[in-house]
Amino acid sequence: MSCTHEHTPTVVKAPIVIDRRWPEEGHTRIPAWVYTDPAVYQKEMDVFFAGKTWNYVGLECEVPEVGSYKRQWIGDRPVIMVRNEQGEINVIENRCAHKGAQICWQNTGTVKDFTCPYHQWNYDLDGNLQGIPFRRGALGKGGMPKDFDLKQFGIKRLRTVNRGGSIWATFSDEAPSFEEYCGEAVLAEIDHMLPGKKLKLLGYSRQLIPSNWKMYLENLKDPYHATLLHSFYITFGLWRADSKSECIPTGGGAHSVMVSHNEGKKKTEATSEMQRFRDDLQIHDLETVTPRAEFNRGRVGGAWIFPAAQFGIQANSLKTRHVIPRGPGAHELVFTYYGYEDDDEEMTRLRLKHANLLGPAGFVSMDDSEMLKQVQTGISGYPDSVSVVEMGGRDTEPADYMVSEVLIRAFYQYYRGAMGL
Ligand SMILES: [Fe+2]
Repeated sequence: MSCTHEHTPTVVKAPIVIDRRWPEEGHTRIPAWVYTDPAVYQKEMDVFFAGKTWNYVGLECEVPEVGSYKRQWIGDRPVIMVRNEQGEINVIENRCAHKGAQICWQNTGTVKDFTCPYHQWNYDLDGNLQGIPFRRGALGKGGMPKDFDLKQFGIKRLRTVNRGGSIWATFSDEAPSFEEYCGEAVLAEIDHMLPGKKLKLLGYSRQLIPSNWKMYLENLKDPYHATLLHSFYITFGLWRADSKSECIPTGGGAHSVMVSHNEGKKKTEATSEMQRFRDDLQIHDLETVTPRAEFNRGRVGGAWIFPAAQFGIQANSLKTRHVIPRGPGAHELVFTYYGYEDDDEEMTRLRLKHANLLGPAGFVSMDDSEMLKQVQTGISGYPDSVSVVEMGGRDTEPADYMVSEVLIRAFYQYYRGAMGL
């Protein structure tokens, strides 16, 4: 764990006042303005992403050597994950202490140090300011004041944690420990995926989805849609309403665990409700949907770690999902695909092949991004409208079945409290 530079100034901000009223029915209703109002969005950035939360930054295997870095965002704030001279991983703000320009413009790479392109202020891999051009002026004139102290003007370093090879950071000195923040159930899911084995980076996919970031969060807390929308899942048995499953809200509703047991293609009573179950369809390359048995024993899905990350497995594809809000009406979605260093060649091939289910053009995931766009368009035209989430009841208790919106209700119960709405 690293500390922040002492000089970091504290700016006292006036709280954002949101002049809105939540529907009387409470957490079974979601007013459309939570997806469109710029003041709501700004408050979310402050309360959640810059607040007492732990945020997913990346995997240790993405920065293998001294000086390897990954550019990342925590909400609206650009940051850099970088391995320092001692081999430790820092997360620093991507912002020059001089005028505030981003010092790192590329997604990944390896550097000796960071130089801001604007006036070439130079920082070491811990964010310490090392040098300023023309510090003593030019031709005997100008330069910085004699008492200008480089040590006072480093880049802020965030509190960071490494859990099984995943890197997390918080802007807050008051956030609880990472373990306490996640809680037992979510931590168990992370540990299940990252059991301490060395990880191997397999690749990324990124896309810009024209919808509010919370719609993606809701989508991953919504097994109900997965049993209806995704022909591919239903028809080929990867995720179905009649599978054994669990929906567990945790962290007061902020986080969740959502898992299902893979049972293969079959026709049952439940499939008749699923219009998208296509008995007439056969898949020529069965391997596309057939996982090789491994550690998860057919258990798929995973944990949502609030605010913006999901860890889980789909067939043999291991991935993290990360959501980067881009204003009230858009978000970036990044999948990071990985494997274990001790995977054989065949398993690596399957992990990559099953990644075709996910991402912007994924056999399954492409349905989601299209739907979220349609929802944003629908609600933006009707800003006073309200959605209803009563599938599976009005409560927020864990469910052991798939056709439930309990995780969304639990989330909005948490959200209203945290946002003061
Ligand atoms: Fe989906």
